[in-house]
Amino acid sequence: MSRHPNHRTHVIPEFPTMKRLVLIGAACLALTAVTPVRAADALPQLAEILASSDDAQLQLDILRGLSAALRGRRTAPMPAGWTKVEAKLTGSANGEVRTLTQALSLTFGSQRALADLRQMAADSKADAGARRSALDALLAVRDAQLPPTLLQLVADAEPRVVEAAVRGLALYDDPGTAATLLARYPALSVGARRDALNTLAGRAANSRQLLAAVAGGKIPRTDLTADLVRQLRAHKDEALRKQLTEIWGVVHETSPDMQAEVERVKRVYWAGGSTPGDGPRGRVVFNKVCAQCHTLFDTGGHVGPDITGANRSDLDYLLQNILYPNAVVPNEYRATTIETKDDRTITGIVKEQNPAATVIQTANELLTVPRGEIKSTTTSDQSLMPEGLIAQLKDIELRDLLYYLSRPGQVNLPAGQ
Ligand code: HEC
Repeated sequence: MSRHPNHRTHVIPEFPTMKRLVLIGAACLALTAVTPVRAADALPQLAEILASSDDAQLQLDILRGLSAALRGRRTAPMPAGWTKVEAKLTGSANGEVRTLTQALSLTFGSQRALADLRQMAADSKADAGARRSALDALLAVRDAQLPPTLLQLVADAEPRVVEAAVRGLALYDDPGTAATLLARYPALSVGARRDALNTLAGRAANSRQLLAAVAGGKIPRTDLTADLVRQLRAHKDEALRKQLTEIWGVVHETSPDMQAEVERVKRVYWAGGSTPGDGPRGRVVFNKVCAQCHTLFDTGGHVGPDITGANRSDLDYLLQNILYPNAVVPNEYRATTIETKDDRTITGIVKEQNPAATVIQTANELLTVPRGEIKSTTTSDQSLMPEGLIAQLKDIELRDLLYYLSRPGQVNLPAGQ
């Protein structure tokens, strides 16, 4: 039997705009977990429209609506008829249709989509951007079969892939993680090292192996920045606390005489003479200890406030804030610790809380943690900005940093940096 060439276009007028919108709306409402029964009604119908329509705009409308409704959820049951949709739309000429279909198929637990993406991620000949996107997508649904691939990709030649793999390992309680990351550590880029430390500090067992490596001199003690130490202390693990005190010493959370300490550091600064520091060198110190959280002159992170417009020319202001971040902590910057059901500890600033997920900004990255994975959430009265940040600096580094911080404008980095 020969098919009428316009066979498909006949289907579309049967779904007038109103009905389409009602269907999409119903599916989205239902998917946000209000009435699962309605989802069961609407989703197969949407799948049917997707599979029968050749109208890319209509497909996009439905796919975008579904994606928005599923945001913050790692997985959802696959609606009837989706396999047909997947087979058809992953071959679409429209790039966004393909991407959205693959992403949704993943959320619906499609084995085909998982296998395709795993293969793409591990393919060293494929485009680096595509490999990174594949990894990100697999991590977003927390693909249970991914850890062996991640462990292998820690040694990949492509930095963007390495970074995603190192960060991604934090999601899994895999027994190979600590040994692999610690062995590879010296070969990692500075950024990937930070990611590795952060991944290790997320779980008590890995943290103990990390501290053993620090005690054994395999990882420099100074790589453990104050915010990592805070993260390590957040584990309720006696053995770990003991190790930490042995390596790091006791961290004093408050000082008996704050103004005296400010005065002492000011004397160190002025001992440098009429131009106590060097701007370019100070910028290097800033990049090392502050830039991950603060923007100054348009570069740096967004964990803490942008300090370009702060009262930086006032040395007292600077030192009080650097030495005693906990003296005054605006509520939106209080550190929150989330414990997940699979025993990961995440410390950061809560940016958004909705019925599906909590979005938390750590010193390293912005994470979305689905509500169902959270065991407990504790908000402290401490700032996410750690104390003791400048305790490790040499006097000259301290002078350079304070000098740079008090400059009205940006300076160039020293040659070769
Ligand atoms: C782990 C993240 C983090 C790091 C690292 C960090 N800060 Fe902060 N900082 C914050 C947060 C969060 C706040 C806001 C809460 C508070 O005031 O404690 C803050 C506040 C400040 C403020 C007060 C800003 C205001 O609005 O008045 C200053 C100044 C400051 N930081 C300077 C620094 C300097 C200098 C460094 C490096 C030596 C540094 N910070 C390192 C997170 C960080």
